[in-house]
This record gives sequence, C-alpha cells and structure tokens, in this order.
Amino acid sequence: MDIVVMARVLFGSSMGFHIIYATIGVGLPIMIILAEVMYWIKKDEHYALMAKRWTKGFAILLAVSIASGTIVAVLLSLLFPNFMEIVGQVISLPFQLEIFAFLIEAVFMSIYLYAADRLPQGLRVLSITLVAMGATASAILITDVHAWMNTPAGFDISEDGTITNVNVWNAFFNPSFGVTAIHVTLSAYMTVAFLIASIAAIRLMKRHLSSEERSYHKKALMIALYFGAAMSLATAINGHETAQMLHEENPRKLAAAEGLFETTRYAGLSIGGYTSLEDQEVKYAIEIPNALSFLAGDRFDTEVIGLNEYPEELWPPLYVHILFNIMVGIGTLLIVLSLAALFWKHVLKREFPGWMLALLVVSGPLAVIAIEAGWCFSCIGRQPWTITDVLPTAEAATGSSSVGILLISFLTLYVVLLFVTGFVMRYYFKRNPMEQELTAGNG
Ligand code: HEM
Repeated sequence: MDIVVMARVLFGSSMGFHIIYATIGVGLPIMIILAEVMYWIKKDEHYALMAKRWTKGFAILLAVSIASGTIVAVLLSLLFPNFMEIVGQVISLPFQLEIFAFLIEAVFMSIYLYAADRLPQGLRVLSITLVAMGATASAILITDVHAWMNTPAGFDISEDGTITNVNVWNAFFNPSFGVTAIHVTLSAYMTVAFLIASIAAIRLMKRHLSSEERSYHKKALMIALYFGAAMSLATAINGHETAQMLHEENPRKLAAAEGLFETTRYAGLSIGGYTSLEDQEVKYAIEIPNALSFLAGDRFDTEVIGLNEYPEELWPPLYVHILFNIMVGIGTLLIVLSLAALFWKHVLKREFPGWMLALLVVSGPLAVIAIEAGWCFSCIGRQPWTITDVLPTAEAATGSSSVGILLISFLTLYVVLLFVTGFVMRYYFKRNPMEQELTAGNG
C-alpha cells in the first residue's frame, strides 16, 4: 500500500476509534445534568441513581478517551508533519485553549465524582454543568481546526510555502467554524441520547424484571427519547445550514455529496443509489425534484455548481454520496422513530410493543454510524486536499516507511481497547446491579 494511503488509513482509523469515546464524553455529562435536574425537581431516587451510574460509565470511558486523544495528537505530528508546520503557525490557538477546557472538565469531574454525596444539590448540578461545559468546549475547539482545514482563513501562503500575514482570530473564526461546531455538538448530544435509549430498551425487553427495575429503565428511556428527539431535530435543522455553508464555501463538496455533474438551477436531491462516473449521474436513486436547489439556497431556482466546473483531479471520491446519504438517512430515521415513540407513549398512552423496543435498541448504534459517516464524508469529501486548496494530502503526509508497522500495531491496540472497555463496563454494571445500588442508597 502507498505510504500516503497508509498514513490516511492509520489516522482515519485512529479518529474513527477516538470519535466514539469523544462523542460519548461530550454527550454523557448533559444526560447526567438532566438526571440530576429531574432528581432535584421530583426527589425520585431513580434519577439520582441514573446520574450515579452514568457517571461511573463516563469515568471508565473518559480514561480511554484521553488515551486515544493523545494517540491521535501524536499521530498527527508523525504522519502529517508538513500539515502540522502550517497549523503551528496559523491555527494553534484552539489547541492551546483546549488545555484550559480540559482542565475545567477534569477538575470538576473529580469534584463531582468524589464529593458529590457531600455537596448540596445545587452545587452538584453546577459541578456537572461545568464538566459538560469543559467537554463541549474541548470538542468545539478541536472541531475548529477541522473547520479551518475545510475553509482555511487568516494567512497568506507564497509559492515556496512561506506563511505570511497571519491573523489568528480570522483563522479561529473561519467561515465554517460556527455551523460545524454546532453540528458536531448537537450530533454528539443526540448520539448519546440514543445510546442511552438503546441500553434502556435492551433492559426493558428482558422478561424477568422487577417493577422497580422496569420503572427505572422506563424513566431513563423517556429522558433519552425527549432529548434525542429534540437534538435530532436540531441536528437536521443545523445540517441544512451546514449544506448551505458548503454551497457558499465549498460547492465542489456539495456537488460530490449529491453526485451533481452539471451546474443546474432547480437541481433535484438524489436519495440513495451510487454515483456513476461513466454516466455522470446517480444510479438507482430516488430523486426529489428541486430539493437540492432549495437545500442550498432556500429557493427552488438556486443555481447549484456541478463537478464539471472543476478539473477531474480535484474531485473528491464520488462514493462520498453514499456517506452523505447514510448520515442524513439515519438522522431522518431517528427523528421519525423518536417522535413516533413519544406519540405512542403520550398521545396513544400505550406501553411500547416489542418491535418498537427492538427499533430503539438499534437507534444508538445507528447514531454512532451516522457520526462516523459524517466525519468520513467531511474529511474524504475534502480530498485531494488536507487544507482545502492550500495543501494537497500527498504533500502533507510523511514519507517514512515505518507507517505500515504503526498501522498494524495501532489497529490491534484499538480492537483490544474496544474489548477491554466493553468488558470493564459489563463487569462493573453486573457487579453493581441497579436494584442493589438503589437499596444501598436508601439504606
Ligand atoms: C439530518 C440531516 C443532516 C444534514 C443535512 C447534515 C449535513 C452535513 C454536512 C453538509 C456536513 C459536511 C460539513 C463539511 O464538510 O464542512 C456534515 C458533516 C457531519 N455530520 Fe451531518 N448532517 C445531518 C445529520 C447528521 C447526523 C444525524 C449526524 C450524527 C448523529 C451527523 C454528524 C456529522 C458529523 C460528525 C460531521 C463531520 C463534522 C463536520 O464537518 O460538520 N450529521 N453534515
């Protein structure tokens, strides 16, 4: 395998692994806040226990998240030294600020973990809120560098690669920063909500549950469904703005996302299918007339730029259409599922049937797949560039021949870590069943 391809596969798989833990690390503190607030309002011990058990899960995952985040940072310098040279000169500010965000998260996490029982309820909510703010700020700051790679700003670069006229604030507030930061944050919140819904639905599908356990898991499921429905709707609304940002800032990527070759007004949205290079169209897709023009500019007559406006060597791989469809398709499905479940519960006032619980079980893994597809779409859709229209990936990557060994060792490490975290979580929650912890709490 070519060294550049190996470097991309290694970094991509490291990110793909890290992003699962990082996403949970951003979303779970919000779920803990919701449980704490519900406990504050209702004085129902089930909510206090939820907060406690989710915090234990958070602490286990945080350790792997920090380790995998450190690996990603080291790999970035090892695999893409030329890219890091530009980053160091132009967009190091978010990395520096991220240290403070992480510090806030870590300090208040320790307070919440070890002193929560001795704190009044208001201070408990405050400390976990600061954990959540630190975690979200970390994610937003790191996402800023990704946004800047998509829409670089705040510097000039000469033919020989010399960087001049650096303006760190223009780089920080690059054109895609706002929408991208919001998209990443909302999608992380929704993913964790659906992961919690999945776990609660798995428990509720068990036949032999005590009424106490059933009631606990139902409450967890309802919090997750309300929050999941709100966040998935917000993600889709913001996704629409993200697509409009692409229309303005990177029409090539939007054209690849939709397999659009000719610049067109009244452009249709192709759902499903695959982009055929020979036929210059999306095969086997369902087309919604005028919808792409509307998505891009809020008007049916918006002109959407096609791929043929660019030389073919600057086109992203055409399979990004599939990644885009997976992300949007899952997002839409989860909105429908969560709203249908809330309608079932509150309007029809009926218990969830087995088939609906089964659908809720898969909602969490589906949200994780959407996150992975979103990141892959955004990063592969930027190709052949590492920094759009500034630094080609082939020039950003290392030429070192040791990448192959690194690739095998890290892939093995990730598989082992996935199993170990799964095992530790299972071990902890099996040894500390919910009913036992509730009795201990009451006693
Ligand atoms: C429902 C409609 C959605 C639309 C219209 C949409 C739109 C987009 C667009 C246009 C991008 C590319 C941004 C860029 O490359 O600059 C993107 C990226 C991304 N999406 Fe979505 N998205 C949707 C749903 C989702 C869902 C459900 C998730 C996950 C649960 C998700 C997660 C992501 C992630 C992680 C990225 C990469 C970060 C970024 O560059 O923004 N998206 N989305």
